[in-house]
Amino acid sequence: FRDFTRIAASSPVMWRDIFSANKTQILKKLDLFTHDLHFLRAAIEADDTTTVMGVLTRAKVARDHFSKILARRAYVEPMKTASVTYIASPSSALTGTFRVPGDKSISHRSIMLGSLAEGTTEVTGFLEGEDSLATLQAFRDMGVVIEGPHRGRVTIHGVGLHGLQPPPGPLYLGNSGTSMRLLAGLMAGQTFDVEMSGDASLSKRPMGRVADPLKLMGAVVDTADGGRPPIKVHGAGKLKGIHYDLPMASAQVKSCVLLAGLYAEGETSVTEPAPTRDHTERMLKGFGYDVQVNGNTVTLRSGGKLTATNIDVPADISSAAFFMVGASIAEGSDITLEHVGMNPTRDGIINILRAMGGNIEVLNPREVGGEPVADIRIRSAQLKGIHIPEDQVPLAIDEFPALFIAAACAEGETILTGAEELRVKESDRIQVMIDGLTTLGVQAEGTPDGAIIHGLGHSGLLGGGEVISHGDHRIAMSFAMASLRASSAITILDCANVATSFPGFVDLANNAGLELDVLT
Ligand code: S3P
Repeated sequence: FRDFTRIAASSPVMWRDIFSANKTQILKKLDLFTHDLHFLRAAIEADDTTTVMGVLTRAKVARDHFSKILARRAYVEPMKTASVTYIASPSSALTGTFRVPGDKSISHRSIMLGSLAEGTTEVTGFLEGEDSLATLQAFRDMGVVIEGPHRGRVTIHGVGLHGLQPPPGPLYLGNSGTSMRLLAGLMAGQTFDVEMSGDASLSKRPMGRVADPLKLMGAVVDTADGGRPPIKVHGAGKLKGIHYDLPMASAQVKSCVLLAGLYAEGETSVTEPAPTRDHTERMLKGFGYDVQVNGNTVTLRSGGKLTATNIDVPADISSAAFFMVGASIAEGSDITLEHVGMNPTRDGIINILRAMGGNIEVLNPREVGGEPVADIRIRSAQLKGIHIPEDQVPLAIDEFPALFIAAACAEGETILTGAEELRVKESDRIQVMIDGLTTLGVQAEGTPDGAIIHGLGHSGLLGGGEVISHGDHRIAMSFAMASLRASSAITILDCANVATSFPGFVDLANNAGLELDVLT
């Protein structure tokens, strides 16, 4: 008691003045605190032990975090590989109106730019998944004070572009390629050295694609054999601006070079072979930074500053995609997904499903904080196979595992080309999906840059069986949706990483109509 009432012993006059001078901020915090106490009270009264566990678990994590900061130890330590298996029993339809978690790409960037801004940035709708939490922790390790996340709310006390401090040890980024590649660019502009490592999947992913342009800018970057992580970025070097022609359509590489450009002498520009997600460009502008976009070329100059702002993170269209496919393939489905990010560099899933005959309505389109948002209604449809237009591939790059399930349930053949990037995602998504579909009785072949899938047709059912997700969150969730059209249960191995992008997936999916059991 003496310990936590220590502050009450200080001068009442001083506190009165603090309260008067900070009235608006204090009232806001008091309102939030009151609201949260009511929320906890209601949960206790209703015997809602799950919510109470959530509050207490968060409190424990926060307390452990503070202890580790005091001990100068990195917070996120390599996770022990948890074994999680889904048993997806046949189910019939998806129904309901709901919101999937926040956009992963925007959540990462909100932490990065909020940390480097001057002032306090408030984020709502933040994705509390392991990937974006890895980015959040990396910035805490570099001395940024970040409050939350608490039910999607994060408050970031920005330190300015030159205010980061050396972390106490290597930054551990788990499964998150976005964290590692974007941070590589930012770290190249710092005055200290940083080492970044990740889990087994991330440790196999190519980092030469970011090391190469950074070296052209004058950075000193080491990777392990074959350009894989861990990656060491040496600070103190002077960066110079470059013009970079991206050899592949990759928003992560584009963003890495642009973020390094914030610290490079003169002008930095990137030309991409096809449009990729432009959240970095949009958010830099939102933080008041001058970014020029001319066709496929993005240009910025160093010397500017980021000014704190508020960010409303929309629901992730890549998470919504599983439900769009599930509702399309399961007869009698009718769902509405709320507040989904509709950035035109991300809407390939809608264009492709529509081209396959999908019944998708975009409702109430609006703009929130520089990003288009809408509610999306999806009803079941008789899908047909198509040759997926190659210009849609980068716009749906994370949605192909789900689209492979749609193709398997469609009438006729679906052909995917120009998608070789799928082979270097969290798993080789072409091979892993083909293997799983083959197990479920679908005739499907991989090609170097895509696949050919022979759909079972409108009345066809997938078989049951055991498929392996290879630790890839999107593979796991796609096969869970396949159970809506399966004749018997699908066992999906290695599903722990669903937590990287979609916390609460199982509950949300079961509420909408799936029959998922989890074995740990
Ligand atoms: C992302 C870009 C894409 C995407 C990833 C998130 C981003 O990766 O697959 O999930 O936030 O910039 P690539 O840049 O490798 O295509």
